[in-house]
Parts: sequence; structure tokens; C-alpha cells
Amino acid sequence: MNYIYLDEIDSTNNEIKRLAAKGYSDKTVVSADTQTNGRGRQGHTWESPKGTSIATSILIRPSANIEITHIPRITILSALAVCDALEKASGIKTEIKWPNDVLLDHKKVSGILTELCFMPENTKAFDSEYSIIFSKGSKYIVCGIGVNVTTNDFPDEIKDMATSILLSMKEHGMSDEKISALSKKSIIEDIWENFISYYKEFEKTESLEFIKEQYERRLVNIGKRVRIFDPKGEYEATALGIDVAGRLLIETGENEYKAVDSGEVMVRGIYGYV
Ligand code: BTN
Repeated sequence: MNYIYLDEIDSTNNEIKRLAAKGYSDKTVVSADTQTNGRGRQGHTWESPKGTSIATSILIRPSANIEITHIPRITILSALAVCDALEKASGIKTEIKWPNDVLLDHKKVSGILTELCFMPENTKAFDSEYSIIFSKGSKYIVCGIGVNVTTNDFPDEIKDMATSILLSMKEHGMSDEKISALSKKSIIEDIWENFISYYKEFEKTESLEFIKEQYERRLVNIGKRVRIFDPKGEYEATALGIDVAGRLLIETGENEYKAVDSGEVMVRGIYGYV
């Protein structure tokens, strides 16, 4: 693992892409004290306030040709890697809102953005357009994680949905000594060590069978009514768990079941965020 620490960057995911183009190796990790253009899922922005949050991304150069449709599975396993690291740091049980929001006290403490990228090996011009030729081995994955560590307050719009490790530890009456022992560097290194050990197992079969139980234990949506935001139309269902592909299993009616994909739908609780 090669750790690079920066004071400020536009986005650690963007920096990983620049380093990948320069030939940096598998498992390069970039972390920054603040991001000026942090990106979230579904085109949202992600705030990384200076000094109080973690913004960290890893470069993964898959040894085999990972199926493009299997990328959301990496996000699922990275959520578990974050849970393990945050529980170790805070001593508080984490939860997951499918697919990959990590929660403390039902509020979001961490978000994950996984991207599949291609290295243009060659470009050739024809008819004033450029076609990019991709070759085997030219794919790489960027997994970026943001964690609110010592953030003390959040803007009104997200106050009810967001928390930090610090706020949650205070809420749970943890000692000042334990709170001041929080180390962003240790959390970052724990996250990526956990991630790599889950990822190695995942690479063998590309199935999430080995973490399904651990994940479902933390899944805040389980057994709850959820609202499914499908571009083809919204509906309500009951969340049952995940399948080995990381899709959310839902019951849509009596004896009617289906699995929904995180690339296609968004899920919320029917009364709010969870
Ligand atoms: C989300 O929940 O919407 C995902 C947020 C992901 C934020 C992280 S911070 C490190 C990395 N760099 C980015 O620009 N985004 C990810």
C-alpha cells in the first residue's frame, strides 16, 4: 500500500485518475485534508471541511477483467470496510443504508463513490472525431470514501441526516480521552487494510456471499418499508436483504419479490432518510 497525504486537492478520486494515467501502481491511496470539488453519488457535491473530515481514495488495478456490472459490489464491500474501521475508532455500532451510506445513530457519517475508469491506450482520428481504443488490462477502479470525523455542526438542510464520529461519541457519553484519541491517519489505514482483505476474497468469485450476513446485520432498511425511486416510476416495498450481487431484495406485494440494482434505483425510508 502506498499512502500519499495532501493538504488540499479538487477531489481525491480525480487525483487517483491523474496518478493512474501516470502509471501509479495498484493500491495507491490518496488522502487530503480538504477537497475543493468533492464529488458524491448521483452528481451531488460532497463537502470535506478542512481538518475535520477524511477524504481518501484508492487505485485498484484488477488482476482479472472484472465485469462492469460487478462494480457496485465493490461499493458494498467498501461500506463494510468503513464500518469495521469506524467501530474500532468510536466503539459505537454502525449501520448501513443500502447500498453504501454508513450511519451512526441513524445518521450518515460516511459516503462512498466507486468509479470504473479506462486508460486510453491509443487514440486515432477519423472524420474529425476521435475514437478511443481500450485494451485488456486498461481498466481500473477508483474507490473514494468520505468520513465526517470531528465535524461539530452541519448546515440546516442536512442536520437531521448527517453526523460525525465526534458528535456520535459525545451522544454516547464517551470520555474526552477517547474522543481526543481519534486519529484520522489510523482510521484511513484501517479502512484500506479492511478493504483490501475483503477485496482479495471478492476477487476469487466476484460473489458477495462471504459478507452477506455481516452486511445484512448492519442493514438499517431490513424489514422496513422503503420507497424505491426507479426512473420508470416510484413505488413502495419492504426491504428483505441483499443477494450475492449486492442488489436489494424487496417484497413488492404478496409473494411478489424482486432485486433492485444500485446503479438503477435510489432507496429511502418512507418517512425520511432511513
Ligand atoms: C456519497 O455518499 O454521495 C458519496 C460521497 C463520496 C465522497 C468521497 S470523499 C473522497 C472521494 N473524493 C470525492 O470527490 N468523492 C469521494
